[in-house]
This record gives sequence, structure tokens and C-alpha cells, in this order.
Amino acid sequence: MSTIKLKTPIPGPRSRELMGRRLAAVPRGVSSVHPIFVAAAEGAMLEDVDGNCLLDFAGGIGCLNVGHRAPGVLAAIRAQLDRTLHLCFGVTPYEGYVRLAERLNRLTPGDFTKKTFLTNSGAEAVENAIKFARAYTGRQAVIAFEDAFHGRTLLTMALTSKTHPYKAGFGPFPSEVYRIPYAYCYRCSYSLRYPSCGIFCAHHLEDTFRRVVAADSVAAVIAEPVLGEGGFVAPPPEFFRILADICRPRGIVFIADEIQTGFGRTGALFASERYGIEPDLVVMAKSLGGGLPIAAVTGRAEIMDAPGSGSVGGTFGGNPAACEAALAVLDAFESDAHGQNLVERAERLGNRFTKRARGWQERLPLIGDVRGLGAMRALELVRSRVTREPAADETHAVVRYCSEHGLIVLSTGSYNNVLRLLVPLVISDEQFEEGLDVLEAGLEEAVDGRQ
Ligand SMILES: Cc1ncc(COP(=O)(O)O)c(C=O)c1O
Repeated sequence: MSTIKLKTPIPGPRSRELMGRRLAAVPRGVSSVHPIFVAAAEGAMLEDVDGNCLLDFAGGIGCLNVGHRAPGVLAAIRAQLDRTLHLCFGVTPYEGYVRLAERLNRLTPGDFTKKTFLTNSGAEAVENAIKFARAYTGRQAVIAFEDAFHGRTLLTMALTSKTHPYKAGFGPFPSEVYRIPYAYCYRCSYSLRYPSCGIFCAHHLEDTFRRVVAADSVAAVIAEPVLGEGGFVAPPPEFFRILADICRPRGIVFIADEIQTGFGRTGALFASERYGIEPDLVVMAKSLGGGLPIAAVTGRAEIMDAPGSGSVGGTFGGNPAACEAALAVLDAFESDAHGQNLVERAERLGNRFTKRARGWQERLPLIGDVRGLGAMRALELVRSRVTREPAADETHAVVRYCSEHGLIVLSTGSYNNVLRLLVPLVISDEQFEEGLDVLEAGLEEAVDGRQ
């Protein structure tokens, strides 16, 4: 039985009416990809205010790996509501924060003593990771990557790569941020080919220390194990090990931004595990809270203890209900309650997607690249496979086709030409195939529309 059930054209009349009010009341800078107001959600299903049922392949931008309103998460939040709602850990501590810290210390990659600090958002966690690294090393510079996304606050904007819409017009940015190419093999900055390139881009970090910024001025290198907003680019297996090996002897803190890759998305709890690396600091957010806002920095105890007492914190960071929600998310990953471990499920969904997508690629020249890791999968659309000219308009058309046919899907990428998959991992096989049918029809329509 299909999940998608449309009673009205999308967007429906009630959504349209609310959209009018939204445009009048909320600044245009806060965009909404789909003009569909949601009234209820469950698992991988959304019901809009017009009674239409849609499938969700976006999961609130990767925040709902355990699904909308996961029963364990709801129960944990409800139980906490009867105890305390807000205290501020900086005033009177509570056990949930400590239990979550202990759990993340255990679960993040690396067999060394760790500590965890909690914040409200991913950007806030990234900012604090840089504070920890600077306090520990006594150095200022940070190296980030082309096509990186780390947030929208001033420092994280400086770390973010894409200009429009994220950075343009918001400068000046904090100084001492340097940028080097990422292993985006489909669009290699050096026009090389893997594997004959010998991972030149990773080794280039050493050259950067000679020609751009001295290694002993660098506090941290920060990288997403798979680019999120940069287009779901999963580097070759050796990339991060080479970077980490260059950083370690020079006393540079290696930070993995696992905000979008975390919590099972890539077929491991953390994508760093898939690359066999143990970052000094791991930054997490999004799916950690199962729908509530919470983020974390976990890392080597000596780095985390570098800032003095009272020098990091915040009013709401590690809210009691959000801590309980996060603990329930981790329980979900450590159980087989869905008939299958969610990490294995991510791998299986990714394989299913890739199999179908490769079939589409054979038929549809619009699909330039099929890539990703686990269930973090994407299609890069191009006007020509020879020139690889980005097909941004066509990508937009597919996204719109999908929402008009009951599937919420997102684009991504520095060139706005990548379709990405962020499905809740609890989606059923039937729902997944149903969503992929819509996506396939949208791609075919985009190709037909061009002819
Ligand atoms: C890799 C990465 N880092 C940082 C952020 C910023 O997180 P937040 O939006 O919670 O501030 C995001 C958000 O998309 C992200 O994908």
C-alpha cells in the first residue's frame, strides 16, 4: 500500500494561505525549499495541513535518522518533562548531561580518555571545537576545505566555503582561516584522476605549511568526513589518514565535523570509523537529538580541559529533555528494535539506492555522478558528461516535481546540482522504493523537458 496520498494539488490551499502569512511575518533570508506546511509526522511520513500524505527523504536536513517522533525518543522526553525542563548546567548540574557525555565518550572513535561538552546547535559546537583547539595549542590558524559547510555564525561562516547564499554580504569574517581543496574527485581542483593522483590534495597540506601558513601557527584542521552541503562528496579511503598523519607530528588538532555524517548515516555510527581515523575532536549535532536541538564536542580529555573553568558554556546547552532524547537515540542505535540494526540498515538503503541509480545513469545522461557512503547518497546532475557543466535548473525542476508528487527531497552542492538522500533510516523498503519511483519519474521528466 502506498504512503503517498494526495488529496489536493501540492501545495494545497491551506499551505498556500500559510505561505502568504509566512512571507509577511518571517524574513525572506530564512528560506523554505518546499512551500508545504506540515501538521503531523511519523517515521518517514509527513501529513500536511491539507491532509496530503508525503514521503520524507530529507528528515529535517538529516536530523531524523531514527525517524519522526521515534517512540523511544518521545517516551524519554515525556518522562523528563515530569522531572525538570530547564536548569542550566552552569548553575545546577543534572545527571542526564553526564550520562550523555559518558556515552559519547565511549561511542566516538578513539581508544583514549575523552570528555564531552554540549551545546544547542551545530554551528555553536563547531565554534567551541575551535576554542578548545586554540586554547590547547596556543595557536590561532584553522585550515578548512573548499566546499565545506560548518554553519552560519560568524566564525563558522568563515569556515564555510560556498559564497551564495551563505557568506556574500556578511563580511568581514574572522581572520586566520585558510582553505585548501577537498578530495572532490569528480571536480578535482588539480584536474588529476584517482588513484594515479596519489591523493595529491591531501599531501598538498604539507605544501600549504610552506607557502600559506606555518604549521606551528595552525591550531586545527577541520573537515567533514563526507561533504554535506558541499555535495555529498565521499573522499577516497586514504584521504583522512594522510591528513591526520600530517597533523599529528605537528601538534595540530584534527577535528571531524560529523554533524551531517553522524549517527548511522554513512553505515557506521560515525563516518570517521569508515575511514579508520580517530579524530582528536568530533563535532556532532542534527540526528543526535532525534528532533530536539542538541549538539556536542567530544574529544581528547587534555584538549577538552584546556580552556579554564567558566570559559565555555551557554544558558541552554545540554538541555535536560534534549539530553534524554539523545540518550534514547543512542539506545535506538544499540538495539535491533526495527528488526534490523539502524547502522546496517543505512548500508542496505545506500546499496539499494546505488543499484537503482546506476540503472538510471545508464539511461539518463543528466546523471553525471552517483556517489556517497552508506545512506548518505547523491546524484550529481550535469548538462553534459563531457564538460560536466552543472545542471542546476534541472536539479531544481526535479526537486519541484518530487514535492508536487508527494516526495520531499533536497538538493545540495556548491553548484546547486546535486540531489541528496537523507531518509530516516527507519523507512520501510516499500516506502523507500515508492520514493525512488517518484525521484526516477522526476529525473525522466527533467530529461524530457530539456528535449
Ligand atoms: C557539516 C555541518 N556542520 C555544521 C552545520 C551547522 O549546524 P547547525 O545548522 O545546527 O548550526 C551543518 C548544518 O547543516 C552541517 O551540515
